[in-house]
Amino acid sequence: MLQTLAQSLAAAEAGGYAVGAFNVSDLNQAYAVLTAARRTGSPVIVQAIAGMAAYEDEAWWWARLREVVVSFDDVPAVLHLDHGRSYDDCARAIDAGFSSVMIDASRDEVTDEPSDFDSNVALSLRVVEIAHPAGVSVEGELGTIGGAEAGVRGEVDEIVFADPEQAEEFVRRTGVDALAVAVGTSHGSVKLGSQRLRIPLIAEIKERLPNTYLVLHGSSSIPGEAVATINAHGGELPESHGIDTEQKQQAIESGIRKINQGTDSHLAWTAALREFSDRERSVVEPSIATAVAMGAMERIVEQRMHEFGSVGRAAALTPAGR
Ligand code: 13P
Repeated sequence: MLQTLAQSLAAAEAGGYAVGAFNVSDLNQAYAVLTAARRTGSPVIVQAIAGMAAYEDEAWWWARLREVVVSFDDVPAVLHLDHGRSYDDCARAIDAGFSSVMIDASRDEVTDEPSDFDSNVALSLRVVEIAHPAGVSVEGELGTIGGAEAGVRGEVDEIVFADPEQAEEFVRRTGVDALAVAVGTSHGSVKLGSQRLRIPLIAEIKERLPNTYLVLHGSSSIPGEAVATINAHGGELPESHGIDTEQKQQAIESGIRKINQGTDSHLAWTAALREFSDRERSVVEPSIATAVAMGAMERIVEQRMHEFGSVGRAAALTPAGR
């Protein structure tokens, strides 16, 4: 059951939980994420980044992705464009039937320098003006989350914290449904700095924006076991530490309703695949290895759904009789 982001997060707000938003770049990952949602009775956000996929033809990929999401008709799911960098990215996603788009105008599309506030407002507003009439939700971004997001931008080695007063003005001027706030996390498998969440900052922004859904990006925990498994089987990942579960749960208590996670799923996938390939040296049938990786991704996504409190919430969102 395809939902908009606003519908999904309104229920999360009422229930005091967060919905996990999981990055996918092929159909097998989407299947794994949706299977985890079905198994745990959880709402879910399936998100894709423009330019980041196993397929060359974006229109083909997005159409198939939408079909896969819709085919899980018992799962309340949002199909979301993560980190749209331009008006055009968002317009294509709306045309492709996404139910939600993010316009990340926090940094200039061309120079990658922090955008000035008015330019961020202007571009975000233009996206809201095409999305809302089409029944599509919009997420904006304020501040700089930092780190490296594959397909989006190179390494950004700074975190510019969101300013509560600006957050209020940003929402008033743009009408976005959800707001990604820079509160101490960073993207990717190598995290910046201490990765301590500024919980009072989240609470302050929420107090000023009671009707806006707050989003936490860069939320992967970077499980040490996954990194160790990858490195034990030929990988070369540096040690890194993400946000722990306790901090994420404090963030939910302070008003975060959407939690973005890509890297943890990808680490689980890669660890399972490397371990399998090392152990089963004569297996060449691709589906056997793919199923192992999908299973690993399903497990980490299920675990996150438990941690975010979204397990068992689907029943209240699915039309009766399903
Ligand atoms: P991670 O890299 O921490 O998984 O964050 C993903 C994200 O925020 C996608 O927008």
